Amino acid sequence: MLIGKKTHQLINEQIGHEFFAMSSYYAIAAYFDSEGLKIFADYYYKQADEEKVHGQKMIKFLSDAGADVKIPAIPAPKAVYSTGVEAAQAALTHEEKVTELICNIVDAARGEKDKISEQFMQWFVAEQLEEVSSANDVLALLKKAGPGKEFMVQQFLKHD
Ligand code: FEO
Repeated sequence: MLIGKKTHQLINEQIGHEFFAMSSYYAIAAYFDSEGLKIFADYYYKQADEEKVHGQKMIKFLSDAGADVKIPAIPAPKAVYSTGVEAAQAALTHEEKVTELICNIVDAARGEKDKISEQFMQWFVAEQLEEVSSANDVLALLKKAGPGKEFMVQQFLKHD
């Protein structure tokens, strides 16, 4: 195995967090879809797809490094939302939590002098800046527009 023991364990756990983020985004997308807010729904369906790719990248990395892949159980995501602000706040909270977890993996890799994992995780560090920033922007827009303005706000959504 090319990578540190603790780092290996944390990356396996992170695969679960990425897939939990994926299903949380699908739940948020479904909420917007059910409200007839198709642009918002598409935005979050795409976010969900990105989370799937994040988990896949980690699986491939562990496999390439000769480390066992052990995907943990994934909890059910929150299923019911009542406002756009509530859903957007949940997305931001997830991203902030994931950022903390990603940084913990970098710290573990450094502690174990595991340069291979440290370098691999840098992509995720950069990605978290982008994801937290976008989640913040969406929430700020919704709050600024006020209740019941989701239809208007969604016209301003961007997805890279
Ligand atoms: Fe994979 Fe949105 O973090």
